[in-house]
Amino acid sequence: MQITSFEQYEADYKKSVENPEQFWGEVAQNFQWRKPWYKVLSWDFTGPNIKWFEGAKLNITENCLDRHLATNGDKPAIIWEPNDPEQDSVTLTYKMLHERVCRFANVLKRNGAKKGDRICIYMPMVPELAIAVLACARIGAVHSVVFGGFSAKSIADRINDAACKLVITADGAYRGNKQIPLKDVIDDALIGCPTVEKCIVLTHVRTPVSMLKGRDVWWEDEVKHVNDVCEAEEMDAEDLLFILYTSGSTGKPKGVVHTCGGYMVYAGYTFSNVFNYQPGEVYFCTADIGWITGHSYIVYGPLSQGATSLIFEGIPTFPTPSRFWDVVEKHKVNTLYTAPTAIRSLMSFGDEPLNGKDLSSIRVLGSVGEPINEEAWHWFDEKIGKGKAPIVDTWWQTETGGIMISPIATVTPTKPSFATLPLPGIQPILVDENGNEIEGNGVSGNLCIKFPWPGMLRTTYGDHERCKQTYFSTYENLYFTGDGCLRDEDGYYRITGRVDDVLNVSGHRIGTAEVENAINMHAGVIESAVVGYPHDVKGQGIYAFVIFPEMHGDVELTKKDILQTVTRVIGAIAKPDKVLFVSGLPKTRSGKIMRRILRKIAEGETSNLGDISTLLDPNVVQEIIESAAKA
Ligand code: PRX
Repeated sequence: MQITSFEQYEADYKKSVENPEQFWGEVAQNFQWRKPWYKVLSWDFTGPNIKWFEGAKLNITENCLDRHLATNGDKPAIIWEPNDPEQDSVTLTYKMLHERVCRFANVLKRNGAKKGDRICIYMPMVPELAIAVLACARIGAVHSVVFGGFSAKSIADRINDAACKLVITADGAYRGNKQIPLKDVIDDALIGCPTVEKCIVLTHVRTPVSMLKGRDVWWEDEVKHVNDVCEAEEMDAEDLLFILYTSGSTGKPKGVVHTCGGYMVYAGYTFSNVFNYQPGEVYFCTADIGWITGHSYIVYGPLSQGATSLIFEGIPTFPTPSRFWDVVEKHKVNTLYTAPTAIRSLMSFGDEPLNGKDLSSIRVLGSVGEPINEEAWHWFDEKIGKGKAPIVDTWWQTETGGIMISPIATVTPTKPSFATLPLPGIQPILVDENGNEIEGNGVSGNLCIKFPWPGMLRTTYGDHERCKQTYFSTYENLYFTGDGCLRDEDGYYRITGRVDDVLNVSGHRIGTAEVENAINMHAGVIESAVVGYPHDVKGQGIYAFVIFPEMHGDVELTKKDILQTVTRVIGAIAKPDKVLFVSGLPKTRSGKIMRRILRKIAEGETSNLGDISTLLDPNVVQEIIESAAKA
């Protein structure tokens, strides 16, 4: 199923559009099914109702583990590189990983978990995180991984939305020179989570934690009580595999639902092709498993293809900005898949951290999560790839399950800052505000997808109507991505960023409404408005305009109080970079905040703010401009 020439890409693409069912039916033959499907696809985008590989039975862990045992059992499945470079790395072969997943699957059963139950996972980037994810899939439980940077309240909201029965966590996590008290955060969260019966705690940082009788058990104790034989649960292709929460333009994050069969095929197919993965190579994706990139391209995609996936616990700059390059050299990494934020951050340290580092193992480079600017693209290409490693700029989303528009390494001619061409099976179209297709090349518009693909979301957990409203109602019969996009003269796609109220801060997706709600929870705040502004390293920074009429302490302390409130409500990742106190916000007569104006002010623009005559009080604009200039 691997594409090896551009001609083959063109032929496969053509076939995938003309005969999608035959195309995906053939791709799916490369996976192991307990029972075949009777229909490859049935769909409508109005419901939406999407079913892939109907009638088929499988377990994704048999594809990620069991099927590799006979031929590749002793091959490394996971290499773990710890936060502290002085600590030893760990290698788990496919046999070892299989054994540990089965054992932990039995622990889950012993603690009352069964097929269909939802399990929340809040863990550091350690091999046990991948083991926990796969153990859920083994027994047919639905995992909901929550990124380690979210607050107790965010976790509680996610646990309650999915009515999770179990939580898997650790005493704490390391992040550079910081320690994050994961179990403490979980304890705070669980005060408000009546559905949680058990909490399994891994020892990692060895910090003291509270263990509640009847609810909390240690991972290390539990695994002693079970054996390592656990037959995989037979799942329907459309049974739920996982829920992953993501931000949108409204306040509450949505639980994006992915199902077993289609997701597996899509994650595996795209992994193998986009990175041109070759047997024996070491593949390093720097994302956290708490995000979709980690789900699809640290765990399921690579393991379904028998690859060696490197899991890194730390951050690029600890203990020094050479850390990534040391990891590459130590483990002879062949593919490095990272985010533009990390590239820009490392670029800012100059060439020194690269001196003497052997990066000759690198064959393919990848970028994901946000638009990559040309400067960062060239730096990555020249300094890391030495001009020889193709860069795959992969555009996709939590909702798409896998990479959608991207070069295929060694096959597609690349172009700086372009995600280039759609993968086989993906039919992008650009539309104008009214949903009319914008045809031809050298155009830009809103990016939609007009035909289903196996990895697409099926619903938003517990609220199908919301799925329909968010993705399938803006434009009739189209999946709307929320992204703006241009298609150049060569038909190459370049993603220009979100066209809705979603920010992309260091590759993390954050809704402006979510941040505003958090700020408004501060006792002194009357109202706030949040916009993004260009940030050299993070891509976008968060700028908050806040009405706070009766300030008691000093301004700087009050700003810190607001940041602390946001950290409590959402997590440190959503902390505004700038807070400006204002006496009013630019609103239309109907009460709508004109963010367009705030965005311009946040970008430093003082004139050319466009038409402000429709504002209720145009004077407020001048006042905001003046305070912004002083801040
Ligand atoms: O705006 C796009 C941006 O990230 C959004 C999806 O965020 P999330 O669901 O968190 O998934 C991120 C990892 C797949 C998209 O709507 N985005 C993602 N990849 C790119 C990108 N923007 C430009 N270029 C990319 N390669």
